[in-house]
Amino acid sequence: MPRHIAFIMDGNGRWAQRRGLPREQGHRFGVKAFRNVLEHCDKLGLEATTFYAFSTENWKRPKREVNAIMKLMDAYLSECEQKIDEYAFRIVFLGDKGVFDEKRRARMERLEARTSNRSRIVNIALNYGGRDEIVNACNRLLADGKETITAEDFKAVLYTASSPEVDMIVRTGGDLRISNFLLWQAAYAELYFTDVLWPDFGPDEVDRAIVEFSKRKRRFGGV
Ligand code: IPE
Ligand code: IPE
Ligand code: MG
Repeated sequence: MPRHIAFIMDGNGRWAQRRGLPREQGHRFGVKAFRNVLEHCDKLGLEATTFYAFSTENWKRPKREVNAIMKLMDAYLSECEQKIDEYAFRIVFLGDKGVFDEKRRARMERLEARTSNRSRIVNIALNYGGRDEIVNACNRLLADGKETITAEDFKAVLYTASSPEVDMIVRTGGDLRISNFLLWQAAYAELYFTDVLWPDFGPDEVDRAIVEFSKRKRRFGGV
């Protein structure tokens, strides 16, 4: 059983386009899938789950689409704040929050602070980029006055510092790449790709990925 699964939630736009809907609708249904998958992972008792929601490169998209995604995100954040005591998990945002306005950033930080003593982790990657994470980690170490560092020092300043190792990365939508996701953490993660588009991805698909994971032989460089 994996302890930590990370999802690249891809395919929302194509899901909508196939139905003759604007891409924004795909993101709306993507949020529904996210809720279902998160709930299922929680039931399965996974220690950590990570969801790639918006990358540092996604700002290149048309303004209208970016705005729609931010609106969905704000609605979700506000719902989280209201229901914080019904949820049992710790919320951690991966990525540079510095780009967000004060109101949104404060809300993200409040959610993190209010859930910080919980053990089960949900990482939401927003304005996340693997390269940005590595550069940010280096700058934090430099600011601490470090001249030489160990891998442990490095891990401690990554956005994922509070999570166990990533066991599996699941990408929906059929593309075979990692798109700047968890570059350091992916070192020995099992990779699982499916053609299913994110809005169609659900508990059964999660179970399928876990069955596949259980069949993989992880050697970590050994024999
Ligand atoms: C993933 O779905 C969601 C985000 C990147 C925000 P896409 O919007 O990339 O959907 P496709 O890949 O264009 O179908
Ligand atoms: C990766 O999907 C980012 C998220 C799922 C948030 P993209 O749709 O942005 O990736 P590319 O552009 O196909 O590589
Ligand atoms: Mg995509």
